[in-house]
Amino acid sequence: MVQINLPQNSKVEKGKFFKDKTGSKNIRKVNIYRWDPSTGENPRIDTYEVDMDNCPSKVLDLLNKIKNEIDPSIAYRRSCAHGVCGSCAMNMDGKNGLACTKPHSEIKGDINIYPLPHLKVLKDLIGDLSTLYKQYESVEPWLKTTSKTEKENIQSKGDRAKLDGLYECIMCACCSTSCPSYWWNGDKYLGPAVLLQAYRWIIDSRDEDRKERLKKVADELKLYRCHTIMNCTNACPKGLNPAKAIASIKKMLATS
Ligand code: SF4
Ligand code: SF4
Ligand code: FES
Repeated sequence: MVQINLPQNSKVEKGKFFKDKTGSKNIRKVNIYRWDPSTGENPRIDTYEVDMDNCPSKVLDLLNKIKNEIDPSIAYRRSCAHGVCGSCAMNMDGKNGLACTKPHSEIKGDINIYPLPHLKVLKDLIGDLSTLYKQYESVEPWLKTTSKTEKENIQSKGDRAKLDGLYECIMCACCSTSCPSYWWNGDKYLGPAVLLQAYRWIIDSRDEDRKERLKKVADELKLYRCHTIMNCTNACPKGLNPAKAIASIKKMLATS
């Protein structure tokens, strides 16, 4: 049997333990992945005892409390705190999601927090999304028209409704980083987040570049690496269905 070992410097070690100092009777243990490239040390899991009596309801609140009151060195992204910007995406209790919308009460036992899976880690909970953003740029996510018009470029209500379930995507990357095909071929396969975005522009009735857009994604590696495993749809914190969007692109290609 083939045995695969992690390189010595990527083994995750037991980290520091931060004992509660408040004397609270309502304590939860929070285990957080930590890695600082500037130290040359291995990644580790630090454990924090947190007083839950004085902690608002979401995982992001918990992280902010730890950062503000226990350990200011933790690095993570966040901005809107309302599930709009997508920056606080991380892996909580083994599932990708947005820390600002995930109630910590939904997590039983210790609360385990990791960066999004299969991304190069920049620091602690911050994954490197530069490849994903380049792929996003490659589908040209903006309206393309050649006809000149002085008037407002309007849509019928029906055409506008076709964008429902697509325009709400906040590019948080929860879907792509839960997709096994993207894990193994992330440099070539566009992945569910980018393909959902591609589809959003392909079916926009105002766009005049549909044929070219379809041609660009019609590629064995960029598109057909999707094997309909559906992890992406299960992971989306906005309730969107990237797998369906990918299937729709394939159908359009098959019938065009
Ligand atoms: S349905 Fe496609 S994109 Fe979604 S997780 Fe599966 S392989 Fe990835
Ligand atoms: S489809 Fe959902 S999970 Fe994927 S990037 Fe958009 S909002 Fe995030
Ligand atoms: S902080 Fe903006 S989505 Fe969570």
